[in-house]
Amino acid sequence: MKRPPQVQTADGKLGVLLPGLGAVSTTFIAGCLLARRGLGQPFGSLTQLATIRLGKRTDNRTPAIKDFVPLAGLDQLVFGAWDLFEDNAYESASHAEVLSREQLDLVKDEMSAIQPMSAAFYPEYVKRLNGTHVKKAKTKADMVEALRQDIRNFKQSSGASRLVAVWCGSTEIYFPASEVHQSVAKFEKGLLENDPGIANSQLYAWACIKEGVPYANGAPNLTVDFPAALELAREHKVAVCGKDFKTGQTWMKTVVAPGLKARMLGLSGWFSTNILGNRDGEVLDDPDSFKSKEVSKLGALEYILQPQLYADLYGKIFHKVRIEYYPPRGDAKEGWDNLDIFGWLGYPMQIKINFLCRDSILAAPIVLDLALFMDLAQRAKFSGVQEWLSFYFKSPMTAPNLYPEHDLFIQSMKLKNTLRWMMGEELITHLGNEYYD
Ligand SMILES: NC(=O)c1ccc[n+]([C@@H]2O[C@H](COP(=O)([O-])OP(=O)(O)OC[C@H]3O[C@@H](n4cnc5c(N)ncnc54)[C@H](O)[C@@H]3O)[C@@H](O)[C@H]2O)c1
Repeated sequence: MKRPPQVQTADGKLGVLLPGLGAVSTTFIAGCLLARRGLGQPFGSLTQLATIRLGKRTDNRTPAIKDFVPLAGLDQLVFGAWDLFEDNAYESASHAEVLSREQLDLVKDEMSAIQPMSAAFYPEYVKRLNGTHVKKAKTKADMVEALRQDIRNFKQSSGASRLVAVWCGSTEIYFPASEVHQSVAKFEKGLLENDPGIANSQLYAWACIKEGVPYANGAPNLTVDFPAALELAREHKVAVCGKDFKTGQTWMKTVVAPGLKARMLGLSGWFSTNILGNRDGEVLDDPDSFKSKEVSKLGALEYILQPQLYADLYGKIFHKVRIEYYPPRGDAKEGWDNLDIFGWLGYPMQIKINFLCRDSILAAPIVLDLALFMDLAQRAKFSGVQEWLSFYFKSPMTAPNLYPEHDLFIQSMKLKNTLRWMMGEELITHLGNEYYD
């Protein structure tokens, strides 16, 4: 195995750029500000809370991840964002109603100071939104240039020594990669010609990669998952990852499905439905945006259960996912899952999961971990797709022709082994026979 490169230390400020200053972004920012003043706990974040075992089980070496790898600390973070609404982070968080007013008011001044930069926004990619805080440009190439200028300005005004971007903008309509996405040259030409295949989120990704800013994609749209973006990322030696934060129902799926498979229990159907009432829910009420989400949510089971290898167990699964926009619930999503499973001699059984979750409370720690780990990856000179961060995504990006790993426990092992490898520690195989020699 190749020796890991020396990881540079995390000196100076880290600027976290967030295209989209909505529920997830503002919950993330407020949480970081509260946690660094000791006014809240960053539950749900591996970078803040998890430990990592090193060496043998008898060695008793289990440092916190943040003490083991050189990560930026919460007090080193500065935040920048773009949105098509002018609301500052405090106002946007107030509308989102995820955090209580009393808690938000503890960080009101810092949140109010975060004003979004104007958005690169063509409305045809997100039909339910209508904002006026948008850039004007003749071509999409000019739009990318304007975003690049924003990035440079933010770096200078914030005093950040490094930047990282996490897309927290709305889910765009479903658009598979087309000819324009196949190479850097074709994409650059498409930008000049305002090619309709190039969506808003891709403009941000393009600008970030060109500015050497690692880019994580929290939504299911393509954004950075197409050959031209990967070619550009390789050229500029920039780390990228995505897609779609794995927060509620799909997280649960990637916990339960590996359990069924490990026990060789069959599955005939899995019906998932949700109600949610935040702005994300409103956007997903548009069938074209829902299609992006649906594709992202449906993939996991197929890859985990491998019906091509286990036709009798998983060859005929009826898998359905629904999301219903239901305003009274706001961000407090409720998900129902019904699993029709079968066991010994084919006898049927059922599992019901009723998850009363909070979307942005689950997503915020993922934004934090991605920002810190992507910055770490960049300092470790990792570039291109960061498969070791699959843990955080509903449809993890991989190298072309490689199927994604969806099983949460494999993803967790992959993440921790990458950290061990990065720091020159032995990988953990869980073989365990050395204890019995
Ligand atoms: N919360 C979760 O559990 C979760 C899980 C997986 C994925 N996601 C995804 O994360 C994203 C953010 O979710 P949210 O709940 O914060 O949604 P939100 O609607 O509250 O916030 C999204 C923000 O993005 C802005 N936006 C849209 N297009 C933009 C553009 N081109 N440039 C700048 N800003 C733009 C919108 O105006 C809005 O303020 C969504 O795509 C959602 O699907 C969320």
